[in-house]
Amino acid sequence: MGTDYILSIESSCDDTSAAVFKNNNIVANVTYNQKVHEKYGGVVPELASRKHHQKILPVVIAALYEAKIDKHHLSAIAVTKGPGLLGSLLVGVSFAKSMAAALDIPIIEVNHMQAHILAHFIEEPYPSFPFLCLTVSGGHTQIVKVNDHLDMEVIGTTIDDAAGEAFDKAGKMLGLPYPAGPHIDKLANQGQNTFRFAKPKVDGHNFSFSGLKTSILYYLKKEIKENPKFIENNLNDLCSSIQSTIVEILIKKLTIASEEYKIQDLAIAGGVSANSGLRKELQKLSESNDWNVFVPEFQYCTDNAGMIGITAYYKFLKKEFSSFDMAPEPRMKF
Ligand code: KG4
Ligand code: ZN
Repeated sequence: MGTDYILSIESSCDDTSAAVFKNNNIVANVTYNQKVHEKYGGVVPELASRKHHQKILPVVIAALYEAKIDKHHLSAIAVTKGPGLLGSLLVGVSFAKSMAAALDIPIIEVNHMQAHILAHFIEEPYPSFPFLCLTVSGGHTQIVKVNDHLDMEVIGTTIDDAAGEAFDKAGKMLGLPYPAGPHIDKLANQGQNTFRFAKPKVDGHNFSFSGLKTSILYYLKKEIKENPKFIENNLNDLCSSIQSTIVEILIKKLTIASEEYKIQDLAIAGGVSANSGLRKELQKLSESNDWNVFVPEFQYCTDNAGMIGITAYYKFLKKEFSSFDMAPEPRMKF
C-alpha cells in the first residue's frame, strides 16, 4: 500500500483541532482549547464560531508543520460533519471544502460520536469486535455496540442531560469554572463519598441525569440555609459524592448491557472517559469480571482531530468520499 496523508479537522464545539495521519499512524495532532467560554459557565455558540474562524488556519498550518509535510502531499481532507454547534461546524466544513477543492483531493465527512469510539484505534492495544462502548461527553451519553470500524448501533442513550453536562452543571452549583468535569475529578480525589443523591430509575439501557441535578440543587439549598459556608467547608466531599454517583449510574448500565449482549470487551470514550473515578471503577470490574477493558489515552478522550483522522482512514480505505455540497448536520445520528 502506498503512503497516504490525510488532514483531519474538528470544530464541532469549543476546540479547534487539526491532525495528520500517514496511513493509520498519527503524525500530528494540534488542538487550540478555547478559553473564552470559561467566564460564562458554558460554551457560547457565537463566540465559539468566531474563535474557530480565527484559529483554524494557524492550527492547520501547525499540524502540517508538526507532520513535516507540505499541503501538496495530502491525499484527502476529513472534517467533522456533526453532531455539534452549527456555527462551529460551518467553519470546519467550509475550510475543509475550500482546501480540498484548491488541492483537487477528496473530502471525507466524519460523525463526531463515531470518531470518539474509533479513538481506540489510534494506538494499540485495539479492542476486538464486537465490543460495547460507553460514550460519555458534554453532549452525549450512549452505549454503542461496535460491530466493525464503520458498523455501530446505539443501544442506549440519555433521555435528558448528558453525563458531562451533569458534571458541568453540578460544578456550576459548587461555583467551579466551566468545564467543571476535570475540576470535580481533581477535588474528588481529596474527598470522601459521604453525601447521598437521588439515582434515576430508567428502563432498558437508557440513562437520565436531570433528577440527580435537581437532587443536588435542593440538597445544597437546604444545607446552605443552615450553614452559608456549607459548600466551602465540604467542597472535596461534595465533589467525591457527585462523581461517585455519576460513575455508579454509568457502570451499572454498562454492566447490564454487557450481561444482556454477552459481550465482555468494553470500552469508554468521550470527554468524561478522562475521569479518574470512572477509569478506576472500570479497572476494578475488569479484575473481578473477566472483562477486557479499553480506556483511551487522555489526549484522545476530549475533542481532538486525531479521532477524526483515524475514522477518515477507515473511510478512505473504502473510498467513502463526500460530495462538495455536503453540509454540517448539528443533530447527526449514526
Ligand atoms: O468529548 P468532549 O471533549 O466534548 C464533547 O463532545 O462534549 O467532552 C467534554 C465533557 C465536558 O462536559 C467535561 O466536563 C467532561 O467532558 N470532562 C470530564 C473530565 N474531563 C472532561 N468529566 C469528568 N472528569 C474529567 N476528568
Ligand atoms: Zn466530543
